[in-house]
Amino acid sequence: MGHSSETTSPRPVGRNVPELPIVLDRAAAASLTSQLAGQLRETMRAGVLSVGERLPSTRALARQLSVSRTVVTEAFQQLYAEGWLEGRHGSGTRVADLPDYAHAAPAPRSPRRRPLSAERPAPLGASAGEMVDLRPGAPWVKGYDEVAWRRAWRLAGEVAPTDRPDPYGMPRLREALAAHLRRTRAVPAAMGDVMVTSGTGNGLDLVAATLLRPGDRVGVEEPGYRTARHIFAARGAEIVPCPVDADGVIVEELPDDLVLLYTTPAHQYPVGGRLPISRRERLLAWARRTGAIVIEDDYDAEFRYDVTPLPALYGLDPAGVVLLGTLSKSLAPDVGVGWVLAAPELLDGLAATRKRLADKTPGPVQAAVAVLLERGDLARHLRRMRLEYARRRAVIVDILGDRVRGDTAGLHVLVELPAAAVRPLVAAAWERGVMLDSTERHHHGPLRVHGLVLGYGSATVNEVRKGCEVVAKLLADR
Ligand SMILES: Cc1ncc(COP(=O)(O)O)c(C=O)c1O
Repeated sequence: MGHSSETTSPRPVGRNVPELPIVLDRAAAASLTSQLAGQLRETMRAGVLSVGERLPSTRALARQLSVSRTVVTEAFQQLYAEGWLEGRHGSGTRVADLPDYAHAAPAPRSPRRRPLSAERPAPLGASAGEMVDLRPGAPWVKGYDEVAWRRAWRLAGEVAPTDRPDPYGMPRLREALAAHLRRTRAVPAAMGDVMVTSGTGNGLDLVAATLLRPGDRVGVEEPGYRTARHIFAARGAEIVPCPVDADGVIVEELPDDLVLLYTTPAHQYPVGGRLPISRRERLLAWARRTGAIVIEDDYDAEFRYDVTPLPALYGLDPAGVVLLGTLSKSLAPDVGVGWVLAAPELLDGLAATRKRLADKTPGPVQAAVAVLLERGDLARHLRRMRLEYARRRAVIVDILGDRVRGDTAGLHVLVELPAAAVRPLVAAAWERGVMLDSTERHHHGPLRVHGLVLGYGSATVNEVRKGCEVVAKLLADR
């Protein structure tokens, strides 16, 4: 990085903190935050800052570099998310004990080998330290019944391995899933309608690989589930953002030339709306008129509070809707089991795709899940988790009041904010030990919905309370 009259001038930072060899260039194309994150990464990689060593406070570093504290906070946040830093800022941010590869010099980049995604996954072993994590996505995995879990695996061990995995899944599990869905989602499902998958992502990819041709236009809710966008785009689709309001996708704004529409009617991700019956009917009428297939992602539909469940869209039109479900929210993402319900010809197409791509869900996992379903263990787990999540959600509503939207179902809520307030609030909360997510990354195009997406799946009731109190205080101080 070249020095210029526009570089920031280092100033002493105090006695007990390392003075870091960092020079920021205000004239450079890269933002000050990404320059700072990059240089901090290099100091850690080079061992100038070693494992366990404490970093200067954001205030001290901002003063040293003559930049705003937000620049430093956002750089720390980034490195925290990548796993380079740990501990809670304020009581001390330290260099994390990273796996060896993170400390090694970066491998030379070959353009032919560059990954398609610019996002870097957090290194394994990254620790959340003392931070309260209110980002959405993860369920409460610690609530499982250990006895039932071990029994399921013991009984799965009695099932002999097979030399020809069934692309539709293990019949016994398909039967158990159909019964589960009839009970919990009022879906008229028989075993023949169900295919076992490795989760929603796998189901989406199979549908995309089976139905899409390059350039096909696929509608995805806006804001919406970005993994769905990534999967369709990876299969050559043109992504068409389809706006949602507080109730869900706006049917009148859907174009007529979509091949598929991805939607989350039970609990819109991330705004939280529950698609009303009248809109469901209009949506299905639109699909019948245009010939589009509706993909219904039922990811967290088992969890609802104070409202009667609305039956899945699929039940209203099994020929025009593909229903995707998963155990990722109701049990744990690493179980890796989900399901697809679709019309018979499409299910056959998906099975053919599976064979073509050598894709499968491991048999022993399917057998263990079948046991959990057959013995009622999953139903009991869901009842317990519903109560557990209801307590956390009540805490959020209690503290944040009528700012909260989308709280009738699922494991996250939306707190709408003025656009300019979002980033500073996320940064200030992080300073106080609370990790928040905003609506930003859920958009494909320009931001339409501004606010926080608060996830309460993986935090304890006390953590949820603490996190929400921090948010409430920051909102009050605005
Ligand atoms: C909208 C949505 N759908 C589905 C899933 C689960 O996907 P998978 O079953 O691939 O783990 C998630 C997980 O975060 C999600 O947010």
